[in-house]
Amino acid sequence: MKVTVVGAGNVGASCAEYIAIKSIASEVVLLDIKEGFAEGKALDLMQTATTLGFNSRIKGVTNDYAATAGSDVVVITSGVPRKPGMTREELIGINAGIVQSVSESVLKYSPDTIIVVVSNPMDTMTYLALKATGLPKNRVIGMGGALDSSRFKTYLSLALDKPANDIQGMVIGGHGDTTMIPLTRLASYNGTPVAQHLTKDVLDKVAADTMVGGATLTKLLGTSAWYAPGASVSYLVDSIVNDQKRMIPCSVFLAGEYNQDDICIGVPCIIGKDGVEAIIDVNLNTAEQEKFDQSATAVRNMNQALNEVLK
Ligand code: LAC
Repeated sequence: MKVTVVGAGNVGASCAEYIAIKSIASEVVLLDIKEGFAEGKALDLMQTATTLGFNSRIKGVTNDYAATAGSDVVVITSGVPRKPGMTREELIGINAGIVQSVSESVLKYSPDTIIVVVSNPMDTMTYLALKATGLPKNRVIGMGGALDSSRFKTYLSLALDKPANDIQGMVIGGHGDTTMIPLTRLASYNGTPVAQHLTKDVLDKVAADTMVGGATLTKLLGTSAWYAPGASVSYLVDSIVNDQKRMIPCSVFLAGEYNQDDICIGVPCIIGKDGVEAIIDVNLNTAEQEKFDQSATAVRNMNQALNEVLK
């Protein structure tokens, strides 16, 4: 299996690293526009193969899309990350043009690929990649929900003081500080509702911390996070290339599901070799559906900015 990661910055390089270390794909191509940068990262990563015990080949290239030919999955991380105090939405002007041209170039050499979008604002960039390429909706996937859910589960495990892998939970809606929706009602600790173990105040704090999870890290690091984003992408890619059919909240095109239409936004999906193989209806209650509709309105407003780009 061949996976291309476009953008060899922090998120792209972490993503390539996890895909190789976990032997998710036998071949990883890392592409960047900065001369020699992806080559350097790829070589450095390759030199961990014998000490970490993996055999995946990692190849770095400068803007050479021919080297990405025949990729089963292409991950797009290109564009600029946010700086402290910025919202993901403020990146649209610069990232839209980049994501559009990258997705078109990618498709030229890998016409059958599945595209995973990481660039922000992620839901809008996913919608853009879908429209710019004209790919069927199962083959363009935004990764935000996987990351936001991993942050939600981390905060829940800290609040419960229980192991992270004993926690289940999902975040749906937009991948924005005010648009994401941690589904607290459905979160569980080994099958028992978390509300049985935590007070409402603590649960509200967990949800609030989750929503600003990325902003908190941007403030601490001076730039956007990379370990958890890279790991979340590798988790998603694993489910595609190894046809695991995991249920992962992803930003995907809705055509009536969750009462929304003509939008890419986070909902629970079955992810396998065909990309988005199904969208799961978790029967939101009235309050949750209201939040989802508000989130969709915010994402749709953001998508308006694409009218200029997609002309
Ligand atoms: C974050 C960026 C990747 O949430 O959107 O860290």
